[in-house]
Amino acid sequence: MANKDVTDPARMEKIVSLCKRRGFIFQAGELYGGLNGCWDYGPLGTELKRNLKDFWWRKTVQERDDVLGMDGAILTMEQVLQSSGHIGGFSDPMVDCKTCKGRFRADNLETSQCKEKPSVCPGSSPKCELTEPRQFNLMLQTNFGATGEQIAYLRPETAQSIFCQYKNVLDSNRIKLPFGIAQCGKSFRNEINPRNFTFRSREFEQMEIEYFCHPDDGMRLTDEWLETRLAFYEEIGIPREKLHILDVPDGERAFYSKKTYDIEYEFPFGIQELEGVAYRTDYDLGVHQKGAGKPLEYFDEETKERFLPHVVEPSAGCDRTVLALICEAFDEETLTDEKGKEDIRTVLRFKPTMAPIKVGIFPMLKKNDEQVRIAREIQKSLQKWMPVFYDDGGALGRRYRRQDEVGTPYCVTIDFDTLGEKGDEFKNTVTIRHRDSMEQERIAIDALLPWLLERVR
Ligand code: GLY
Repeated sequence: MANKDVTDPARMEKIVSLCKRRGFIFQAGELYGGLNGCWDYGPLGTELKRNLKDFWWRKTVQERDDVLGMDGAILTMEQVLQSSGHIGGFSDPMVDCKTCKGRFRADNLETSQCKEKPSVCPGSSPKCELTEPRQFNLMLQTNFGATGEQIAYLRPETAQSIFCQYKNVLDSNRIKLPFGIAQCGKSFRNEINPRNFTFRSREFEQMEIEYFCHPDDGMRLTDEWLETRLAFYEEIGIPREKLHILDVPDGERAFYSKKTYDIEYEFPFGIQELEGVAYRTDYDLGVHQKGAGKPLEYFDEETKERFLPHVVEPSAGCDRTVLALICEAFDEETLTDEKGKEDIRTVLRFKPTMAPIKVGIFPMLKKNDEQVRIAREIQKSLQKWMPVFYDDGGALGRRYRRQDEVGTPYCVTIDFDTLGEKGDEFKNTVTIRHRDSMEQERIAIDALLPWLLERVR
């Protein structure tokens, strides 16, 4: 078991810098000094995130008969969150310092910094004057209506709209228990101490499944979902040995949960949670049934049993998983040329399915009209199927390196052989260069699309 306290800040710094330099992730509002805890995804980050969300959807909804999708509103009624317990209880214990006016999580003082003396934690300087802990609600409230008279909240989790629509989904689809409803979307929490790049943010995206089942099946399905989710992470390129399963002990689980597994990843800033797989029992449907005063029970036609379904919830952090993908992919490889000169190659070793750009397309010589014409034609034909990047600037080696750094798994080069200068054997063939091995092979232009589709989707 890896040590939770082992961190690699230098590696993390390089990753954050690469993310900005190559347009994966920028701080929101950076132009005006930045909005703490909020992030904008740039062109490459957006592609990466879309690939992750699309793959999650494919595995969770498209390839399963027992899970349906939904896309709920972000603005959430006060009554919904009253019933769910978020208005009364979704809070962190906070302390204020009367001297520096800082506010800190009471359960996190040892990892926080005093505002006046950042080398110590709050409470450790003789000048610190901390209050007793007070509960601080994490939800973001907004108002609407002509005079702003109506209160709503930015949802703190996507789960609540699923619980509230469970009956509508059940009644409008011919589906029986057990079945799930999946949703991917934004949630918001007023984190007091956003940190570790995008890991703990105030605005973030979740990928949640609420899986409704008979009460007798809850425990078994929780274990089954854990395995399904672990397999998912392997498939996207996060190896099993970098994942840790925390069987959350009694007393540390949310009060409504009978069993929770946290799936954690070895980030450079420590081992942290990617996903929780929680057995939420009938808590959620129970509180909404009571709060709304409308029956949410399920009637089993075969057994003639009427009961409130239980829920197993695999809830993954989308931004956290994007960050894990980047951290896992980041590599600095030392290359030595024939003269013994060393050079560092920065590579993002994304799985081709996750890579933001699937293929780089290069005419070997920018000034050769025929090479450029063929390269543009290849670009046009592939572009309908996948994100590609055309580049004719600078030495070929440098073009390869630029694509290595953003994780493009394949580069195609159109050269003099393509034009038939070495005879008919190579005419209308191109070079494919593999990012990880840097090996090259030749392939007919006509075979390019099926070759790529087999590998990148
Ligand atoms: N729905 C579980 C969570 O947001 O943590």
